[in-house]
This record gives sequence, structure tokens and C-alpha cells, in this order.
Amino acid sequence: MYRVRTIVHVHPWHSAARLSVRFNSTSSKYTAVTHPEDTSSVPKDISNTLARHSKHVLNTYARPPIILSHGKGSWIYDTSHRKYLDFSSGIAVNALGHGDEQLVKIMNEQASKLIHSSNVFHNEWAGELAELVINLTKRDGGLGWASGTQVSSSSEPTSGAKVFLANSGTEANEGALKFARKVGKDRWAKANGISPADYTNPAYLSSPKTKIVAFDNAFHGRSMGSLSVTSNPKYQAPFAPLIPGVEIGAYNDIEALERLITEDTCGVIVEPVQGEGGVHTASTDFLRALRKRCDAVDAVLIFDEIQCGLYRSGTLWAHSLLPIDCHPDIVTMAKPIANGFPLGAILTRDAIAESMTIGSHGTTFGGSPIAARLAHHVLSRLSDPSFISSVNRSASHLSGRLSRLPTYFPTLLHPYVRGKGLILGLPFKNESHPGVLTKMARERGVLLLTAGQDAVRFVPSLNVNLEEIDFAVDVIESALGVMEKA
Ligand SMILES: Cc1ncc(COP(=O)(O)O)c(C=O)c1O
Repeated sequence: MYRVRTIVHVHPWHSAARLSVRFNSTSSKYTAVTHPEDTSSVPKDISNTLARHSKHVLNTYARPPIILSHGKGSWIYDTSHRKYLDFSSGIAVNALGHGDEQLVKIMNEQASKLIHSSNVFHNEWAGELAELVINLTKRDGGLGWASGTQVSSSSEPTSGAKVFLANSGTEANEGALKFARKVGKDRWAKANGISPADYTNPAYLSSPKTKIVAFDNAFHGRSMGSLSVTSNPKYQAPFAPLIPGVEIGAYNDIEALERLITEDTCGVIVEPVQGEGGVHTASTDFLRALRKRCDAVDAVLIFDEIQCGLYRSGTLWAHSLLPIDCHPDIVTMAKPIANGFPLGAILTRDAIAESMTIGSHGTTFGGSPIAARLAHHVLSRLSDPSFISSVNRSASHLSGRLSRLPTYFPTLLHPYVRGKGLILGLPFKNESHPGVLTKMARERGVLLLTAGQDAVRFVPSLNVNLEEIDFAVDVIESALGVMEKA
């Protein structure tokens, strides 16, 4: 059931605004609330359970009054047997959707074999996963390799890169920042005739090459180091003082880089596509200028691809197909790598890895046999060429439908959809509206996320199908129609 809408375009480049009339159709099929959340509609057993839990659970999230219980593919169910299309995928995590049978089988198999053994010993899977991440980076491009780079033969002494396995995104970034600090100090020491091995030497300790540069609207995590480069006062201010020596620049501002990144800078961290900060994409020229400036001052360039990487942007890394003069020294990843089982990782060029000697970093859980085996399986499936093609098909269908919405609802939406692949943002003119739409969509059976100040974010599972995309956008169109009239 579609209604015909009359759209009036005002062309701003004409001195006297020119009006044109077009006919478009948007869905009005889902105007009615099907999944109500108001207090009187929440079943008594659910409100009682939530009230009991709230006495015990630290209250850092504003959650809707539903309790999720299980899922299948892109669909997730609550304990009242209501079904939702999960277009949030656990905040860009469940790349293969929910309840994937192969993953469950592998998880069961590995759980009965060996769950954890610590990093004091080798396990069967951590090394296999590290090799796969590096080989895929060579095949698909990234970290200084153009796509199609030959994978090193087993007789070569090094693959050219190394992987450190951690537990989460923030921990991967925390590690990357530590790498940058150590590399900065080591490089400064060598340049000044001091041995980096002599790390108690006061001269080594007084190295000025410790500054870190990050950008506005960034989100890198909540631990003290990652938080210090997450330039959002809401997250930072209550926890200050943060780690010293962090400078924040304007995203995509090339001119400012010369002043921002200096000889004292040891590392620069940036998301090629910002997720939480509002789905903003770095320009190729900005990334190239960053690479150039980092090379000029011998600083480490870190790309945080925790949300945009691992095929969410349509390629392995959001930077995979960019010219190699835009590539970083370190890539951090997490979220979808094990489809929801916690795992983060730092991928770094050998030149950086050499500074990280035995004992310089560590973790108890990171790279456990179960996490590494699951990630190996997930990554093998995500990297299958037919899977990548289907991600790109879904991405162009979703962006095609979303990009028509500003034309249909010009009073509500800014003209352009932001993002890349299956990380897309729909920007609103009124900053309270992303929250309103997200709630309205949920009350009609679709889970969405907001991003930054002004956007609704779309990060569905990477195996979402075209019918599911159509359902999500039909619900959004219906909700926008209701909002427009309100
Ligand atoms: C780009 C980016 N970096 C880092 C993080 C932090 O990851 P985690 O929540 O796994 O610690 C996030 C989480 O949303 C993220 O989107």
C-alpha cells in the first residue's frame, strides 16, 4: 500500500527559486504502532523483571522496555515473542546475523576442546587467524599493500606485518596508542644516539616524541587511552584529567595538518569512516595528506577500522582500494570479527612491530582458542568473493532507497545520505529527530541506531537481504510520513 506524494523542489542556485513538481511514492504501510513501548503496554512480568534488574545493574544505558531473547539471521525476538528486524546488528557486530548454525557448531566443538589457555602458551588458532588477516589484507589491499599483492611463501622469514589479538575495540586502540608511544620514543632515542633497550635511561624517558593526534567527532572507546582520543566532551569531561599530550584536529581539514602534526607527534589515530560520530567519511586527499605528514615527522598512522572495517564498507578495509600513499601503519579491528564473541586485534607493519618486544604488551584473554577459531571462521566467510558481492549489492540497494528519502521528506532531512557500503547515515535537520525516528521504527518492529548529533545510522548484518532492506526502509518512510505531519 503506497501513497503518492507531491514533492516540491526549491533549486537554491536560481536567484528566483524555481519550483518543480515530481510524483514519488513512499510507503505508508507501517504507520500504525505494532510494538508499543508505553508503560501501559509493557506486560507486567517484563516491567517487574526490569524493575528488579535495575536494582542491581549499573545504569549507564537508556534502554527500551524490552528483553531480547534469541535471533535468527537479521531477526531478533523479545521475551514477549515480538519479532524485530535488527538493523543495528549489535552495533555493527553480527555480520553473519544471529543464530548462525555453522558458527554454533564450531563454538560447541571448540568449547568442548579448549576454551582458554592464556598467551603464555601457543594455541592452534591465534596464529592461523593472524595469518588469515595478513593474507586477506594482501589479497584485498590495505596497510601499504595494493590489492592483489602476492601472499608470502612459507619459506620467507616474515609476512611483512604482525597481528596482536585483544578482546575489544577499545583494547585494540589502547594497544595501538601504546605501540605509537613506544615507536615514537624508540625513533627519537635512535636519532639522538640513545639505545631504546636502555629504557630506564632518563634521556630515553624524557623523549618529547609522545604526542598523539586525533580528530573531532571521533569515537575510539572508553578506556583511559582510547577515551583521551575520543573527542566528545560528554564522554571525556567527567573523567578528566585524561592522558596528556593529545591534540584534536578538524576531520578532513588538510590545511591544519602541518600545525597539528609536529616532530613531537608519535601517532595519529583516525577512522576512515566515523561511525558513532555521525557517519562521516574521510576524503582520500585528507588521508593522503595525513600519510604524507606522518612520514615527514616520523609518526605512526593508525586507522581505527573497528566499525567500518571487515567488509562493512564493501571491502576488507575502508582504505583497501585507496592508493597506497593513503594507507596506515596500523589498523585496529574488533566488532564483527567473531560475530559477537569478544575479540579485537591490532594489525601492524613489521617496522612498528619490531619495537614491541617481549613483555611490552599483553592480555590474559586476547586470542583465546575459541575466539580465534570463531574469528577465523567468520573472516573466511566474509571474505568469500560471492559474499563480498552480495554485501555490495545490498549496500547499493539500501543507499539507493535511503538517498531518495531527502527528496520525499525535504523538511525533515538534509539532502545527502552519508557513509559507504553498509555503514550509512541519514542526516536530520532537527537534532531531536534521529532519536524520534529510532523509537518510532522500533515501535514498528525495526531496530535502528543514532549516530553523532544529527543522524540515524544503518549498520545491518552484512548478510541482510533485499526484502529485509525494503521492509526497513518502508517502515522508515511510514514513520517519516507520520513525523512530517506531527
Ligand atoms: C570506531 C570505533 N572504535 C572503537 C570502538 C570501541 O570498541 P569497543 O566497544 O569494542 O571497546 C568503537 C565502538 O563503538 C568504534 O565504533
